[in-house]
Amino acid sequence: MTYAEITGWGKALPPIVLSNSDLERIVDTNDDWITSRTGMKERRISHVEVSELSTVAAAQALAAAGLEPGDVDLLITATCTPETIIPPTSAVVQSKLGLNRAGAFDLNANCSGFVYGMVVASDMIKSGSVKRVLLVGAEKLSYIVDYTDRTTCVLFGDAAGAAVLEATDEPVGVLASELGVDGDAAPFLCVPQFGTLGGPGPRDPEHASLYMEGQEVFRRAVTKMGEASVNVVGAAGWSLDDVDLLIPHQANLRIIDATARRLGIESSKVFVNVHAYGNTSAATVPVALTEALESGRVTPGAHLVFAAFGGGLTWAAAAVRWGNRVEPLATSDMRVPDTDKTVWDVLEPNFEFFGRGGDRE
Ligand SMILES: CC(C)(COP(=O)(O)OP(=O)(O)OC[C@H]1O[C@@H](n2cnc3c(N)ncnc32)[C@H](O)[C@@H]1OP(=O)(O)O)[C@@H](O)C(=O)NCCC(=O)NCCS
Repeated sequence: MTYAEITGWGKALPPIVLSNSDLERIVDTNDDWITSRTGMKERRISHVEVSELSTVAAAQALAAAGLEPGDVDLLITATCTPETIIPPTSAVVQSKLGLNRAGAFDLNANCSGFVYGMVVASDMIKSGSVKRVLLVGAEKLSYIVDYTDRTTCVLFGDAAGAAVLEATDEPVGVLASELGVDGDAAPFLCVPQFGTLGGPGPRDPEHASLYMEGQEVFRRAVTKMGEASVNVVGAAGWSLDDVDLLIPHQANLRIIDATARRLGIESSKVFVNVHAYGNTSAATVPVALTEALESGRVTPGAHLVFAAFGGGLTWAAAAVRWGNRVEPLATSDMRVPDTDKTVWDVLEPNFEFFGRGGDRE
């Protein structure tokens, strides 16, 4: 039988930081509220487009797997903030990386996108239709966040992460998965008129930003991430005690803690970096996976649980048995470019569009 091993991993983080104290200067909020309600301290704001973040993360993942661009059969880019609708961001990344043999498409399952992509990639490899998949999760959420709305703007950031999945005979990779969606609850987390619903002409600022009813989303996220995680552990034939590390979507520390409680695992078995990057939607899971590997939290043969929740409202979970290698075979020289711009320089077009709050000087 064929399985799909994760053999490469990488991340791309824009250098510009938006801290809680920066946010205090533009909306009526404070570090105590943000930290106690979300666990977040900082997030990154990108001065480059999603394809560039994606390309850097993907190049790192390819190097970690010891592969050349021509080895890749398929590129999937999970994003809800593509830089264009036509072409898909995957086509831009394919060109930048020179993936000269690959098919490529974008996948939009909002914050669950990367875990959805893991399942799609893994099942395509298991079916024999492809051997090597490059999977990216990348977002520039600062494009759809209204920085006058304190109920959303403190939560989100920009980033990309990537993984390589390869065919193997070893029983590793995604052993069980669950994908779900509750479209009835979609209005609780949406950009109401971004797309054809907005009609022809320029975007209407009032309906082009992220709208969220936080408590409604929170409640469902806790329930579904917890249930799906327990389900995939059972479906993989593991007991809850077998789980070595939970790598959850990083939307809120309280949601992560509740998911861990549901799995009955202690905090030492949960990977958390929400304090550093906030919620970067489809990018949180691959960035977390990469940092879990970098910090030695993934051991050979480890039993991992991935769980995510997001707009749709979608959710996804996967039970993944890690292979033997936890070190990258190589690293790429590709980096997100430096910039002299400040966070306010980069956010200025956003402020001009959605409005500006506070006195940030
Ligand atoms: C958004 C979230 C952090 C809010 O936390 P909460 O404990 O539910 O807070 P509430 O929405 O009940 O708001 C409590 C109070 O804080 C206020 N508040 C909201 N945002 C605030 C901010 N940034 N700073 C200070 N106060 C804020 C509210 O106005 C409210 O005030 P009121 O009681 O006077 O009306 C939380 O609901 C959440 O994380 N939801 C899920 C979000 C998510 O994961 N989204 C993406 C899914 S992928």
